[in-house]
Amino acid sequence: MTTTELVEKTIHFVKKTLKGAEGGHDWFHIERVFNNTLLIAKEERVNILVVSLAALLHDIADPKFHKGDESIGPRMAKDFLNSIQIDAETCKNVVLIIENMSFKNSLEETSKSFTSKELQVVQDADRLDAIGAIGIARAFNYGGFKNRSLYDPEISPNLDMSKEEYKNSSAPTINHFYEKLLLLKDKMNTATGRKIAEERHQYMLGYLEQFYGEWKGER
Ligand code: ADP
Ligand code: NI
Repeated sequence: MTTTELVEKTIHFVKKTLKGAEGGHDWFHIERVFNNTLLIAKEERVNILVVSLAALLHDIADPKFHKGDESIGPRMAKDFLNSIQIDAETCKNVVLIIENMSFKNSLEETSKSFTSKELQVVQDADRLDAIGAIGIARAFNYGGFKNRSLYDPEISPNLDMSKEEYKNSSAPTINHFYEKLLLLKDKMNTATGRKIAEERHQYMLGYLEQFYGEWKGER
């Protein structure tokens, strides 16, 4: 199969598998990450098939909905890649990216065990979807799903929570900006990713300023 055919088959599989997925990790998230990946990859020397397949398959199974089992996603990706007879080297590289790329891992340097230029590109593409206008929408969507308040001036951001505490926290969604979203621009791997992140970061700062102004009834 040609690269195009492999990518098309993967798109079909991912769309089908993610039917009914929640808003933060639906097909459109995958499509945006795939597009960001291609944009960044234009400026980097990477294997296009590897980054394309990894972007498409990176959220194929969210551990949050599989009793926290982090091995399901990589396993589903591997089974699918074998079913379309991808060569062993490509398969291995794609699966390693998926295993090592989650948002949580990306914020905890210690859990980083594998890296590659391809992983860096797809990880940047995924991080870009957590910031800017889309990132803001996803954060409030997630907060709503968890029944969290928008903002509470008496509850300050807490940067020292463990992964478990963070998950169970009932902190308002605005805190997530300080605890995660505004930290992402300094974690970008590639120059292109960094540049786009910088623009989206500024957009979020402007948004927060407007938010606090409106909160106080200033304008
Ligand atoms: P990943 O993108 O690696 O799957 P998550 O599942 O943690 O990461 O996050 C998915 C989306 O939900 C992201 O846009 C993220 O910013 C948002 N999100 C995660 N945790 C929170 C939270 N506590 N409050 C608001 N938004 C959150
Ligand atoms: Ni993702």
